[in-house]
This record gives sequence, structure tokens and C-alpha cells, in this order.
Amino acid sequence: MRTIALVTQKGGSGKSTLSASLAVEMQARGETVFLVDMDPQRSLATWARGRTDRRLAGAAVGPGQLTEVLGSLADRGVTLAIIDTPASLSAASEAAMLAADLIVIPVRPTIFDIWSSEATWQRVRALGRDCAFVLNQCSSLQGSRRVREGAAALAAMGGLLQPLITARVEFQDAMQRGLGPTELDPHGPAAEEIRQLCESIRRRMARDRFQGRSAPMAA
Ligand SMILES: Nc1ncnc2c1ncn2[C@@H]1O[C@H](COP(=O)(O)OP(=O)(O)OP(=O)(O)O)[C@@H](O)[C@H]1O
Ligand SMILES: [Mg+2]
Repeated sequence: MRTIALVTQKGGSGKSTLSASLAVEMQARGETVFLVDMDPQRSLATWARGRTDRRLAGAAVGPGQLTEVLGSLADRGVTLAIIDTPASLSAASEAAMLAADLIVIPVRPTIFDIWSSEATWQRVRALGRDCAFVLNQCSSLQGSRRVREGAAALAAMGGLLQPLITARVEFQDAMQRGLGPTELDPHGPAAEEIRQLCESIRRRMARDRFQGRSAPMAA
């Protein structure tokens, strides 16, 4: 089983939205996915309860339960756990960072968000872990100077997953209907961004495995 944790102390960056969006697409690619919701707001666990998939489930999990829950998921045939965390550097986010094969830090392209993500990145490094950033809620003018500068700052820190994810109502509509953007409008641009992000994540995990940092992802 592979584990991805979405972590950042900055609220509203898109941890829960991207967790759900990635879960749907990863499931479509053959993974059996479990969403581990460590945020007391429980948005993701609530979203997952509205679904009836055989290969996509989720539940709220406290930091003290994480190791045991991940062990039992592997025993139950789950191939990919996606952990959503609260907007704080807390026992929950630290447990998630330590358990994950890949830590993803979603960042909006504003200077306050980038400063905040730098603090999260430093905590990741202090724990001896590695991470990748994803720029979320970018303006559709992706060539804008602010987005370009944000991308350069994050790439210099650790690594920026492609593509940049645009601010689109499709993400909000999909969550409201208990769907991923790839289900809401499979041919739309939000769906295409999520498919590309899945590819980047798979490549990144394969690279980490090659460098001896983690184990192989399920086919
Ligand atoms: N790419 C996007 N396009 C449009 N809206 C988005 C996008 N990503 C997230 N949002 C919206 O931004 C808001 C915050 O997103 P979300 O709840 O996923 O962030 P979060 O990091 O999980 O927040 P919290 O820190 O409160 O848990 C939500 O209203 C969500 O619908
Ligand atoms: Mg959230």
C-alpha cells in the first residue's frame, strides 16, 4: 500500500478538494483507495460517506490511531491511502508526514500562502522527510507574474508537481455533488488537470522508489 499525505498549516489551500479529486481518479486507474480524514472538520469523511464505490471509502481517524488504521487498510487490500490533515502543524499533521510515502503541500499563489508553505516545508525537512508542492487555485491567466513567481519559489524549495491547478467552479461543484472533477465533466479542463496531477504523483513516487526512499505503487 502507498500513502500520500496532503499537509500544510495554511487553511483553505485545497487539501480536502485535491484529496477527493485525486482519490476518484486514482480509483479509476485501478487503485483501491481509502481516504483518511485527520481533520476534525471531517469534510472528506462526510464526502466519502456519500459515495457507494467498492474501491473508494473513507473515515475520520485520530493521530493516535493512524499507524493501526494504515496497517489494517493494507490487510484489507487497500492499495492507496490518501491522508487529509487539519490546517495546523499538529499531532495529526506530524503523524501523517511520518507515515506518508509522499507528502504533498498544496499552495495558493499568494505571498502569504508561500511564506506559510515554507514553514510547513521546514517542518517536513526537520522530520527528515521529502515533499512536493502543488500550486492550487491559480488564476486562469497562468502566465501571470504572480503565478510564475510562486511556481519558481516552490520549485526552488523542493519540487513543484505539474500542472498548476486552476481555480475553477468545477472543483466546487464536483465536491458538492459527491464527485471528482473527472466524473463531473470528464472532458473538461479541471478533469484534465487532475489526470495530469495523478500522472505527476505516480512519476514522483516511482522516482522516490528508484532512489530508495519508498516502495512501489500498485499498478
Ligand atoms: N482548484 C480549485 N478551484 C476552485 N475552488 C477550489 C479549488 N481548490 C479548492 N477550492 C475551494 O477552496 C476552498 C478551500 O478548499 P479546501 O476545503 O479543499 O481546502 P483545505 O486546505 O482542505 O481547507 P482547510 O484548511 O479548512 O481544511 C473550498 O471552498 C474549495 O471548494
Ligand atoms: Mg480540509
